[in-house]
Amino acid sequence: MTIRIGVVGTGAIGRDHARRINDVLTGARITGLSDVNLQSAKAVKSDVAPDAEIFAVGEELIASDTVDAVLVTSWGGAHEQYVLAAIAAGKPCFCEKPLATTAEGAKRIVDAEVAHGKRLVQVGFMRRYDAGYRMLKKVVDSEIGQPLIVHAAHRNPSVPEQYVTPMAIHDTLIHEIDVFRWLLDDDYVSAQVVFPRASSHTHAKLKDPQIVLLETAKGIRIDVEVFVNCQYGYDIQCQVVGEEGIASLPEPMSVVMRKEAQLGQAILTDWKDRFVASYDVELQDFIAAAVKGTASGPTSWDGYVAAISSDACVAAQEAPGRIVPISLPARPALYA
Ligand SMILES: NC(=O)c1ccc[n+]([C@@H]2O[C@H](COP(=O)([O-])OP(=O)(O)OC[C@H]3O[C@@H](n4cnc5c(N)ncnc54)[C@H](O)[C@@H]3O)[C@@H](O)[C@H]2O)c1
Repeated sequence: MTIRIGVVGTGAIGRDHARRINDVLTGARITGLSDVNLQSAKAVKSDVAPDAEIFAVGEELIASDTVDAVLVTSWGGAHEQYVLAAIAAGKPCFCEKPLATTAEGAKRIVDAEVAHGKRLVQVGFMRRYDAGYRMLKKVVDSEIGQPLIVHAAHRNPSVPEQYVTPMAIHDTLIHEIDVFRWLLDDDYVSAQVVFPRASSHTHAKLKDPQIVLLETAKGIRIDVEVFVNCQYGYDIQCQVVGEEGIASLPEPMSVVMRKEAQLGQAILTDWKDRFVASYDVELQDFIAAAVKGTASGPTSWDGYVAAISSDACVAAQEAPGRIVPISLPARPALYA
């Protein structure tokens, strides 16, 4: 069976997901495209999805009987309305992160999905589908005893001028926030942020680097260095210290070269290359569940918890050194 997918938001990632659904993955076709910028939708139609109908209004695409499932890849501020429309239509929906730009917005989605009574939403936390993180999780679950500490880093060579301090949480750390909950099967109870000496490569509105300290319900302590002007590359590090051993996220595969009295390996510079394979796996998983009229992978609840945890981290940035508690409501049975 081939399911018919509509894409709302045909910018960079919407275009890329449409291409992967039509050209790389199996079991689905793009039949609808919508964007507030009609030119963008038309360009995606002509370049990667010639069979798709263009809809001027996202909600009309979602309601259309030529669309079985929906990808929401618009700007973050417009995710909530489309995800709610997909739930109202009873259609499986893949939503890029963030699920919503506020915790209240994410809660409205959780409530709507719980009221619907069946999972329909998958959130685009693709690191859970990355081969390296999956290998790491297997080792953490079975080889090193109970995890005690996580040391991690999220480094970008540079960021655009408009990137400011809270974006280090909402746009960058958000991936660690989700993937560590999954890796450790745990939730956060507090967040703290401290700022080391600032790099001379940053500007007044961006404190860089920063160190985010998270504590989990099981008592695991996590330190994440977020350094978005590190100059040298896009580098994701994660080391889990367990009571019987230490496990580290594998480095991306790259040739080791000996040349001119140096021993070296290239480091990626573009974030788009780091998890590119995981996008294929996450969307194939979405298609497999959507065929059955449901969703799997990261849930609305995960999106909601990520939003609550992010808000605490931003509050911690605003009061450096202060420990900000994180408390979560009871998890609905739908997400057990
Ligand atoms: N998981 C990941 O690694 C990853 C990577 C990139 C982007 N994203 C997320 O995907 C989303 C899109 O990012 P992008 O890089 O493609 O941005 P983009 O700016 O390239 O594209 C966003 C598109 O949404 C359209 N849009 C804005 N408001 C809309 C509305 N109300 N209705 C319909 N369309 C609307 C814009 O016209 C634009 O074409 C963001 O939420 C971003 O955080 C996730």
